[in-house]
Amino acid sequence: MDIQNKYPIGILGATGMVGQRYIQLLERHPWFEVAWLAASDRSSGKTYGEAAKWRLDTPCPERIARMTVSPAEPEGAPKIIFASIDAAIALELEPKFAAAGCAVVSNSSAFRMAANVPLVLPEVNAEHLSLIEEQSWRKESGGFIVTNSNCTAMGPVLALKPLVDRFGVEQIFATSMQAVSGAGYPGVPSMDILDNVIPYIGSEEEKMEAETLKLLGTLEGSVVTPLRARMSASCNRVAVVDGHTVSVSIKLATPATREEILACWAGFRPLALRHLPSAPDQPVEWAPEADRPQPRLDRNRGNGMAVTVGRLRPCNVLDWKFTVLSHNTIRGAAGATILNAELLRSLGKLDAAAPPDRSGALQRKRTVEVVDDIVAGVFGGGVRGMGVT
Ligand SMILES: NC(=O)c1ccc[n+]([C@@H]2O[C@H](COP(=O)([O-])OP(=O)(O)OC[C@H]3O[C@@H](n4cnc5c(N)ncnc54)[C@H](OP(=O)(O)O)[C@@H]3O)[C@@H](O)[C@H]2O)c1
Repeated sequence: MDIQNKYPIGILGATGMVGQRYIQLLERHPWFEVAWLAASDRSSGKTYGEAAKWRLDTPCPERIARMTVSPAEPEGAPKIIFASIDAAIALELEPKFAAAGCAVVSNSSAFRMAANVPLVLPEVNAEHLSLIEEQSWRKESGGFIVTNSNCTAMGPVLALKPLVDRFGVEQIFATSMQAVSGAGYPGVPSMDILDNVIPYIGSEEEKMEAETLKLLGTLEGSVVTPLRARMSASCNRVAVVDGHTVSVSIKLATPATREEILACWAGFRPLALRHLPSAPDQPVEWAPEADRPQPRLDRNRGNGMAVTVGRLRPCNVLDWKFTVLSHNTIRGAAGATILNAELLRSLGKLDAAAPPDRSGALQRKRTVEVVDDIVAGVFGGGVRGMGVT
């Protein structure tokens, strides 16, 4: 796809930590191009270079720095919106964009647990995307909301998915050590976090528990039945810039050996045949060293899209315990949204937003991809309710 034929996308919350990651990750994206930036009234009307306090270790692209930040309103916005704004604001703004016919691919927690809103990690529950057909916006304007999970749930869920499928998981105990970038910018004051651990992150434990069970749940008709497991999460903020580390203990429904668990992770490549540009080859990477994973050394594996597991060992209370690390603003946020959008595009759910001269070609390509998937059984149980629209 050449540059003029890319899908134009808009970023809501473009100046924030996650917004900046979208810009960085989309700089050379083969399918999507940033065409519109919006943030609060504080930023609206300024150039992006003036409005955003760029905090990433690659330069802000010049083209983006020169763009003017728009008001956060659907008028004039592209039909695909990557949203990264606080939940309270998302609650008000995301439905406005969906009602205006936009595909809102969101990071915020506002609608993650809504019954008709898919909470999706493409490797884990791609079939839940069919819930968009239950949304009134979809029926009335074609717009919809799709969400990705909380950044802390993401790593454990990827590591748990193949174990849930193979052995069943009945109990989950998770303790997080979360990076400061998870709180946005400027986030936690340096005087609070340096030389310190903060054993409280508002609503995080509740989100982690509920979202993990929804992501690992099963779609029955148009209802997601959460995984029937008990989960207890404890969330802590630590003095790390990027990368959430989580210690996990699990009780399995049927016994598993260490070799079997390692083989599950090694063989977990559910998107291998889908050719999504941001999907890592190996979503769950095993680190055999005794002292890994570590945020500084492992957060960028798979371009920040792979999670790293290590320290698999027997648990004296449950069955097994391990440590999992994920990059919170890439795999846990911006990269997750982009991967969801890639999945939506591959399923034809973004065709209304396709560049005009591409729509015919896309239609033909999508049909071929869907047929390929059915033949290859990419989605295991099938893509229920995901017929071509
Ligand atoms: N950071 C992470 O690791 C992470 C991970 C997963 C999910 N999330 C979620 O992603 C969302 C954004 O997080 P973040 O870390 O990027 O936060 P952030 O750095 O605080 O950025 C917030 C963004 O929202 C904009 N904004 C604030 N008020 C607004 C309004 N009234 N209308 C429109 N835009 C408004 C800000 O614009 P101004 O610059 O103009 O104020 C900024 O662009 C949150 O819901 C968060 O929970 C974050």
